[in-house]
Amino acid sequence: MASNNEIERRRTFAIIAHPDAGKTSLTEKLLLFGGQIQVAGAVKSNKIKKTATSDWMDIEKQRGISVTTSVMEFDYKDYKINTLDTPGHQDFAEDTYRTLTAVDSVIIVVDGAKGVETQTRKLMEVCRMRNTPVIIFVNKMDREAKDPFDLLDELEEELSIHVRPLTWPIESGARFKGAYNIYEHNLNLFQPSKQVVTEKVEVDVNTEELDEQIGASLAEKLRGELELIDGVYPEFDKEEYLKGELAPVFFGSALNNFGVQELLDCFAEIAPSPRPVKAEEREVEPGEPKFTGFIFKITANIDPNHRSCIAFCKICSGKFTRNAPYLHVRHGKTVRFSSPTQFMAQRKTTIDEAWAGDIIGLPDNGTFKIGDTLTEGEMLHFRGLPSFSPEMFKYIENADPMKQKQLAKGIDQLMDEGVAQLFVNQFNGRKIIGTVGQLQFEVIQYHLENECSAKCRWEPLSLYKACWIESDDPAELEAFKKRKYQYMAKDREGRDVFLADSGYVLQMAQMDFKNIKFHFTSEF
Ligand code: G4P
Repeated sequence: MASNNEIERRRTFAIIAHPDAGKTSLTEKLLLFGGQIQVAGAVKSNKIKKTATSDWMDIEKQRGISVTTSVMEFDYKDYKINTLDTPGHQDFAEDTYRTLTAVDSVIIVVDGAKGVETQTRKLMEVCRMRNTPVIIFVNKMDREAKDPFDLLDELEEELSIHVRPLTWPIESGARFKGAYNIYEHNLNLFQPSKQVVTEKVEVDVNTEELDEQIGASLAEKLRGELELIDGVYPEFDKEEYLKGELAPVFFGSALNNFGVQELLDCFAEIAPSPRPVKAEEREVEPGEPKFTGFIFKITANIDPNHRSCIAFCKICSGKFTRNAPYLHVRHGKTVRFSSPTQFMAQRKTTIDEAWAGDIIGLPDNGTFKIGDTLTEGEMLHFRGLPSFSPEMFKYIENADPMKQKQLAKGIDQLMDEGVAQLFVNQFNGRKIIGTVGQLQFEVIQYHLENECSAKCRWEPLSLYKACWIESDDPAELEAFKKRKYQYMAKDREGRDVFLADSGYVLQMAQMDFKNIKFHFTSEF
């Protein structure tokens, strides 16, 4: 039974936010509670400075540095908590999407003054695709914030999820007095401090005590608001939360470590332990005795002399043991890992075992590809590592005729690592690279030149979206492919992709071919 306890106590999650909402500050405070760091300020932001977009080497370096901090684990009470970091820079959004396939729940940080921002909206879409349970932390209440009721409406509307406040702020900005904990019925009074966790005061809101603590007029207002909340929002229902339909909402200030403990306590209690994972063949339960896992992220170190990578593996079931023989399903080969690592706040340590829910780092020199499955022998293929339609496209051409092979190999390797997506146009056979940001083109070119001794040249290509197409009507599918033959491509898995050059063209295609489904992600 020990194994099940080990799995039950695990909480694997990611914090997601629009850049600057306070993800780094919140992560740091969580680590403080977990005892992983002793003082605030110890966690370096892996945020990429906005001014440095032209100097992407710095960005890669920062990415290299952030390898060790991209998964952080700590113990809190009886729980083992695994936090997965997600890159702040939106050019690496694809990385974040993939990271979300390896977590069992998320905490969304929203800036109380700005409300829901673009990146939050996009990331929430990914959560919705997988019914990931979500907790919302409204941050920066020590600054002038939007009205909390308006914020709740905005969250519901913009994120398409029901919400239920579990704490309630008393004013904001200079007048910020603290928060009332609705489910524990106590008051947390605000003291601006980066180090101290404030004492909670037990108060009965219907007594004079509340007036004494926050003044008569605020007490009156709070009573009214709490009544309104009870009237408008149904009781918090954990089952609905676990289904990804209802998000509990907390208010606080990550910078001042205010409201973070309430969030963490509630998170540890209600957040799911590792959930079953779907493979093509069957659903895999975390409690199964045999080890299974998949690679969801590969990070290259920035060392021009040799290309060493770390493949991040999410353990889906059972127990992983160092040096044990495992099956690399795609290669059909047995592999052993003598130095698997786990990640603490600022360091990496070799581990002997790990359990379902954990993320381990496996040293990799080209044996892994994103989505690869490891098992104890079973032929399993984990699904659900979606590719999203890229937003930028360029033709990639060989600029050194003597290095054709090196170029092809280099492109393959970079695509395996998930740096970008490759499509081959079926009409002219040209290779097209699709990315979510300009930066990736520079990253690809640098790696090809410096590590693969290959040279590439980019040619502009103006496309709106790449859509994966499918249909139950083979005749219509054929007719479509014939009509659009110049715009048909294959992805690396050989799936049909339609390259729409404008939103209008796509709309017309959708109208003319009603029996064809156009997907903006490769998972459908
Ligand atoms: P991110 O990882 O989501 O991008 O956000 P991060 O925690 O780095 O926070 C972004 C900025 O917001 C930082 O300021 C941080 O200090 C500030 N911040 C975070 N939480 C709070 C809060 O609760 N209240 C207030 N008032 N500010 C908060 P910065 O000036 O960009 O950086 P720094 O010089 O403070 O490090």
